[in-house]
Amino acid sequence: MGWFGWLRGRGIRARANATTLAQSHNAAKVAVQGREYLTTAPYFLPKDEEEVNRLDFQHYLFRFALRGNYAAPIQTPASILDVGTGTGRWAMEMAALFPLANVVGLDVVPPPADENASLGHGLDRRPDNYIYIQGNVLDGLPFPDASFDFVHQRLLVAALPEARWPGVVAELLRVTRPGGWVELLEAIPTKGGPGMNALYEWLVAVGLRRGVNTLVTPHIADFLRAAGAQSVVARDLPMAMGKWGGRAGIMMETNYFALHKGLEAMMEQQGITTARAFEEAMAAARQEIAQGQYIWPYFLAYGQRP
Ligand SMILES: C[S@@+](CC[C@H](N)C(=O)[O-])C[C@H]1O[C@@H](n2cnc3c(N)ncnc32)[C@H](O)[C@@H]1O
Repeated sequence: MGWFGWLRGRGIRARANATTLAQSHNAAKVAVQGREYLTTAPYFLPKDEEEVNRLDFQHYLFRFALRGNYAAPIQTPASILDVGTGTGRWAMEMAALFPLANVVGLDVVPPPADENASLGHGLDRRPDNYIYIQGNVLDGLPFPDASFDFVHQRLLVAALPEARWPGVVAELLRVTRPGGWVELLEAIPTKGGPGMNALYEWLVAVGLRRGVNTLVTPHIADFLRAAGAQSVVARDLPMAMGKWGGRAGIMMETNYFALHKGLEAMMEQQGITTARAFEEAMAAARQEIAQGQYIWPYFLAYGQRP
């Protein structure tokens, strides 16, 4: 419990200073057409309340579609780290699922719940065995070697420059205990008809402007192997979009359009597209998804520290 107690102390102080933290993070954002984006990290998705709602929706969608929150063969982990924790939903659910584990959620910006001074209420009450720690994985993780039994990183495709992937995965493995597991889940932009293809091109382009290649994610298992992980398991997760995919397909379609809509302001500001072209591509993509059977490919990989 030693170092977790120390971190917890820091976490509690961070919550007490929530206003200062929130203000300092707000200062690191830029507002464009009513959406907010980070300026201090390569991450190019919005960082605002609308995106918080999308990420929570997406979290529930994943849990529903994957029938759980993880795939690695963990038994009774004593410590869990979630890198790029977002709204903190995954980490808080894991804390509730493993009440004897210490669960840390790390992100450059605090989850919304951690911007409040209290522990939340009712369903939103944060478990006592969960804390948020501010950190930037591109600067290295603020933990000693071999600190965690399970390290999880989900959907940092929009955050990590291509050249940084091998080092980041090696860093995840460094803080994992021998015998512990690292699990990654990532998406890749998806093509389809002309409307979907336009949205695809613009998404890829907006990432490249920040040095982020969103097309590297099929290689996550290779990054784990290159970092020295053993017993690596890789799974393709083809997620159906639209009614043909049932309830999960309808949710995935909603998520697809919310993701692209969240990038519109930045793409227009950067001259990647125009409001009119964007509107037309979204309308065309809706038709394509209604009439076709499209897949949004996701990739899952996990591996063990020797
Ligand atoms: C798409 S969200 C995914 C959130 C969460 N993992 C999930 O699956 O719901 C990516 C998160 O990574 C965080 N992030 C971006 N760059 C980061 C960095 N360099 N270090 C740590 N977190 C980062 C963002 O603030 C955001 O909360």
